Amino acid sequence: MEILGCVDISPTWILCIAVLFLFYAYGKKRNRLFKDAGIPGPEPVIYIGHFHQFVMKGAYIKEWEKYGKVFGVFLGGLPLISVTDPEIIREVCIKDFQHFTDRTNLDLDDYPVTKSILLEKGANWKRIRNIVTPLFSGAKLRMMCDRIDQCSCVLTNNFVKAAESNQSIEVKPYFGAFTMDAISSTAFGIDVDSQSDFKNVFVEEAKKFFGEGIQNPLVMLAMIFPALTPLFRALGVSTFSRSTRKFFTKVLNEMIEQRKADMRAGKTKRHDFFQLLMDAEDDGSDSQGGPQRKKMTNEEIIGQALLFFIAGYETTANTLHFVAYSLAKNPDVQKRLTEEVDSVLGDNNPDYDNIGEMKYLDRVITETLRLYPAVTGVSRNVAETVTIKGYTFPKGCSVTFPPLAIHRDPELYPDPDSFKPDRWLQKSEMDPMNYLPFGHGPRQCVGMRLAQVEMKMALARILKKIQFVASEDTLPYVGMDNITIHSGILTPKKPILVKIKVRPDK
Ligand code: HEM
Repeated sequence: MEILGCVDISPTWILCIAVLFLFYAYGKKRNRLFKDAGIPGPEPVIYIGHFHQFVMKGAYIKEWEKYGKVFGVFLGGLPLISVTDPEIIREVCIKDFQHFTDRTNLDLDDYPVTKSILLEKGANWKRIRNIVTPLFSGAKLRMMCDRIDQCSCVLTNNFVKAAESNQSIEVKPYFGAFTMDAISSTAFGIDVDSQSDFKNVFVEEAKKFFGEGIQNPLVMLAMIFPALTPLFRALGVSTFSRSTRKFFTKVLNEMIEQRKADMRAGKTKRHDFFQLLMDAEDDGSDSQGGPQRKKMTNEEIIGQALLFFIAGYETTANTLHFVAYSLAKNPDVQKRLTEEVDSVLGDNNPDYDNIGEMKYLDRVITETLRLYPAVTGVSRNVAETVTIKGYTFPKGCSVTFPPLAIHRDPELYPDPDSFKPDRWLQKSEMDPMNYLPFGHGPRQCVGMRLAQVEMKMALARILKKIQFVASEDTLPYVGMDNITIHSGILTPKKPILVKIKVRPDK
């Protein structure tokens, strides 16, 4: 074909140029989304967006400093609006929740996690959330305390052994094994005993859960071209570790079969989470269908149980290891906390009631989660375009609240990098939306109270016996420069090492 009588171009070339042009024009249009909505943010690269800056390097944790309380970025093709304004957070999480019910996810091949409340959507999420919420009631948590204390005793013994070496130790594996044993025994009635073997298969599989997906080039491609997600799903591409899902699904199915066999053999029913989940299994007797159904399918039971293993392990262990670090770096706080533990406990063991009396312990944990919120991004999907406080949130975007940005804002928390538990004496004067380690609203962390009970029980038990001491191997500080986001969890770039000393009076 001749163009303007001089250049001879074949139809194939013209088609290629047209396709390239359309591809370019579509990419440019996609990038205009935030400009058109009046939301500021860094200039995106066509198609890649800010993927290379935020997903690959974790740079996201510093970006609010440049663009203010509301700004937009593109994680490839996923438009994400970061919000640190408490009024907007309240609106999204609580007041206007019906427009922001679901969490954003890639919809890849992630069974059975897709059946869990972490990823479930709309009415189905609400139905399952209503079923699982009572599992975390005060009465249920009270029943778990004995088992948690048994695990805390093993943890204390492990620390006492570590003290004998007089070497600095990496504390995270100790707490990781403790939380795995605690969740396994309290929620599932099984004795995993990972505290005797830090490389236990449960721990190793749980560790992999969040890590593998984001390193998979096909997952990255799905983020850059979300329209291709159905294809990737059909090809079996997943966000969460395949081997972890397979391992826990197998273990959980075996546990279900075992319990059913025990029931048939007339053995006494247990009263743990897993039994309560199993009691909610749909045996066909539930006459109400759809969103009213009060029962769960076998797949849904597996989904919730798997999530409890994973969520109950990493977040709580991560927080405990930051408590240990903070106590080692602040001996005055540790002394005061130890005095509180001694005075409340006397010769008694920690239990549900006496840990509730430890007000300073509560402030220590609250302050640790302010400085080191384990989950670094709470997000919601925009179901319908809405305008809040003059900002338009376009349908299909994800709204995310970065706890770190809020928790380290000097206007909200004077001297924000210092560990000061007593700043929480004025808790009632603070806007709760400026503190969100567990999220907010109906989709808030369902395991929050379990996590708090578990952490308090463990700390009360170990501080009766040992102290954390900073050594030359302990990081001088853990701040914005030397933390990163690893698999969605706040992680110091170098591991935290401290020395353990048995208390001189013990
Ligand atoms: C210190 C420990 C923990 C922290 C910091 C933490 C943090 C969070 C955060 C930030 C969310 C998102 C909330 C939102 O979107 O508003 C969440 C959700 C969730 N967490 Fe936790 N969590 C912890 C422990 C636990 C434990 C022990 C369990 C259960 C055994 C658990 C189960 C869940 C579940 C099931 C969800 C999804 C809730 C839903 O979408 O309805 N978490 N957690």
